[in-house]
Amino acid sequence: MKQYVTAQDGLDGLRLTEGVKPEPKDGEVLVKVKTVALNYRDTEVVMGLYGHHKSVGQAQDLVPCSDMCGTVVTSHSSLWKEGQRVMAIFNQTHLVGQIKEKDMASGLGLPLPGVLAEYRCFPAEGLVAVPEYMTDEEASTLPIATLTAWMAINGMRPLGSPANGAETVLLQGTGGVAIAGLQIAHAAGLKTIITSSSDDKLQRTKQLGADETVNYRSQPEWQEEVMRLTNNNGVDIVFENGGAQTLRKSFDCVSFGALINCIGYLSGKEDVGGDRTHTNVLALRRNITLKGILNGPKERFVEMAKFYEKHQIHPVIDRVFRFEEAKDALKYLYSGGHLGKVVVRVADS
Ligand SMILES: NC(=O)c1ccc[n+]([C@@H]2O[C@H](COP(=O)([O-])OP(=O)(O)OC[C@H]3O[C@@H](n4cnc5c(N)ncnc54)[C@H](OP(=O)(O)O)[C@@H]3O)[C@@H](O)[C@H]2O)c1
Repeated sequence: MKQYVTAQDGLDGLRLTEGVKPEPKDGEVLVKVKTVALNYRDTEVVMGLYGHHKSVGQAQDLVPCSDMCGTVVTSHSSLWKEGQRVMAIFNQTHLVGQIKEKDMASGLGLPLPGVLAEYRCFPAEGLVAVPEYMTDEEASTLPIATLTAWMAINGMRPLGSPANGAETVLLQGTGGVAIAGLQIAHAAGLKTIITSSSDDKLQRTKQLGADETVNYRSQPEWQEEVMRLTNNNGVDIVFENGGAQTLRKSFDCVSFGALINCIGYLSGKEDVGGDRTHTNVLALRRNITLKGILNGPKERFVEMAKFYEKHQIHPVIDRVFRFEEAKDALKYLYSGGHLGKVVVRVADS
């Protein structure tokens, strides 16, 4: 079978090779991979830059990527039948509750072999059924970006909590996590404010239901605009996707009691700028909860899939590349030109 491998030495080093088609053991399922959705993490892994999780380690000649939709070819488990469409969960052992160190060791596409291949075996419990109304491309976007967005909004409180609907969510950028967050928040009746470096992208987010938009490039002090848009109240939930250059500003545009979800580091992993007000002071000033997000467990994935089905949400796919174009697809994602998700179609049937 065909598979891509990386020595984690750069996007140009990604190689299409011939691998051995795996055989499922007891309790495992062989899946024919149809589509793979790319994440920012995949570009970091291939470039050897994914070093901030100490427990994850480095692997040589690794099959990259984690998010796939495929069809069961052979099942050695009563959970799945041949022909069923499935998605793989990112950390294969993270089934319920709080993630632990051991679960980090079960991440697909580092440290475990990933899914940018024609076939892969999974433990039966590491899979989730695809909602019938979704295409293969749409379904492959759910495991990392969408579940992370789901946890940022719903992770710390039950669905339908009284506050739900009266809250405002700030989404940073128009990448996979932010756009999934926009779709979830909009469907749940929350107010949304989204930022982007592009007016054209902001225009497109309005069609997806964004209530307010802010261009963080033409308005570098975007946090002031967010305060203006919320009548100086601030937002209740932040998707902190930017990191180094955005967190300080996020603290300045939140409501009392707000939740800042520390999700990403698109603007860097190390502090910049001269304002060294301590995080303790920033957090206590408005009684903020600062919550680090690490994807989510399978039980919340299943819950999310039901929400998507109920609201018939179609994940936003910017572009689909052919299997032979996987390198171009990763480069395209890394360039940041997309809105929503970038997908590689591995097999047509
Ligand atoms: N913690 C977790 O569990 C988890 C899960 C998934 C992802 N992540 C992390 O979250 C981040 C987003 O992931 P993703 O998959 O959505 O990435 P992505 O699709 O590659 O997002 C790219 C977009 O981010 C926006 N961006 C770049 N710099 C920005 C800045 N300074 N301020 C605001 N937006 C900025 C740009 O939007 P515009 O073009 O509109 O400006 C860019 O197009 C990444 O750092 C990723 O590693 C973490």
